[in-house]
Amino acid sequence: MKDFIFDLIQCPTSDESLQKAEDTDELYTKNTSYPVFHDVPWLFPNPEESFIEWGSKVRNFIQVESSLINEVGNTLKFEKRPSTLARVQSIIDGKSHNLKYLESLLNIFDEIIPIPLAESTQNIYSYFELVFRDWHKESAEIECYTKLINEVISNNNFKNILILGSGAGRLSYNLALNNPKSQFISFDHNPLLSFLFKRILDGESINLSQVEMYAKNQDSYATVIELFKPSKELDNHQIVMGSFPDLPFKENSFDLIIAPWFLDIIESNLESSLVIIQKFLSKNGGTVYLGPNNFHKSEIFEQYGVDEIKSIYNDFFSTLNSESLEINYLKNDNSSQTRIEKILFLFAKSKITNIKTLKAPSSDKIKFDSKLISYKEKIKVFHRVLSQIDSDMTLELLASKLETEFSFSKEESLHYAGILYKQILKEIT
Ligand SMILES: C[S@@+](CC[C@H](N)C(=O)[O-])C[C@H]1O[C@@H](n2cnc3c(N)ncnc32)[C@H](O)[C@@H]1O
Repeated sequence: MKDFIFDLIQCPTSDESLQKAEDTDELYTKNTSYPVFHDVPWLFPNPEESFIEWGSKVRNFIQVESSLINEVGNTLKFEKRPSTLARVQSIIDGKSHNLKYLESLLNIFDEIIPIPLAESTQNIYSYFELVFRDWHKESAEIECYTKLINEVISNNNFKNILILGSGAGRLSYNLALNNPKSQFISFDHNPLLSFLFKRILDGESINLSQVEMYAKNQDSYATVIELFKPSKELDNHQIVMGSFPDLPFKENSFDLIIAPWFLDIIESNLESSLVIIQKFLSKNGGTVYLGPNNFHKSEIFEQYGVDEIKSIYNDFFSTLNSESLEINYLKNDNSSQTRIEKILFLFAKSKITNIKTLKAPSSDKIKFDSKLISYKEKIKVFHRVLSQIDSDMTLELLASKLETEFSFSKEESLHYAGILYKQILKEIT
């Protein structure tokens, strides 16, 4: 881990600073410890729970994907048409190759027994196509973003810079490479994208198969792509994992917060997100919005247009520069389709300091959305655990009760009992 991050990170739930453990790969405060995987700190507000949650997503994905590969592979034995055989076989080969790589990349979750999760747009394989756009030798789209943001950084001499939802990471890499005097943190919650980005930064040679749903021609359904290998190691860049809006950083510590294709896809509304961004910006700090000209929400009434986006930024910042551009989004030469998208680049600066009067609008109803469904699932599991506690209980006794209730092995029951035991104690003491 780069030393500079210790001036910036802190516990995501308290203001306590994080210390580096001497003998383990951990960061800790008085009450909590946070693991570090592949040199990437896991700074989710509830690290054990989020580990199980992401682990369940990983294990479910691996299970579903391997069953699909096997099933389709079996039916292929009866396929007589050579062109169909070749097409489907190439997809199976591509998917199997990727799956093998992802299994090794995500092997820290091997022991997780999946728990039931609500449907979510944020799955382990979401945004996988970004890897190919980002780590292709050339991407006009990424070059365009890099140029716009490089100008903001050099005109303002910004030092500490945070990239929210950094994804596969090429924009972060380019910016850190081009601005050696600045320090960059790439922040994302997705382990696949974060760990893959780290391996790329470490100079690993990686080949992945780009499986294309809408292939341009018969042999472009699955194409092996050699990912670009960065030539230079960065000492001004660090990946940190966690979950927006629970940012694990000290208040007022960033001069620039960049949100590329991020604020429109997260659950919090734009006003609430800007309250958070404000909190972490330094006094003369600025922020960049880069993304669609209108918010891509599934509900049409929530689709802000460009004037609304600017007007909301105006409530929080005193200067605003913006530009609308047209880009070829996720350009892919193997696809039969092209997505030309109108995008907005917006740079806002000088935060309005009496922000307390601009509190995020409080919603007057409980929204029945994926967050609520996850919450319900969590409470259900908790209820099953708590109903096992009808007298004073040691950790071992709780473990043996969980073994029966959830059909766990001895080892699993001890593992989960340990986590839940701590959580219950935290709630009631
Ligand atoms: C649409 S992608 C954009 C990625 C990248 N900025 C780009 O422009 O290619 C959104 C990114 O935000 C991440 N993300 C979504 N919700 C998040 C959250 N609550 N906290 C942290 N990262 C999140 C996703 O994993 C994904 O990498």
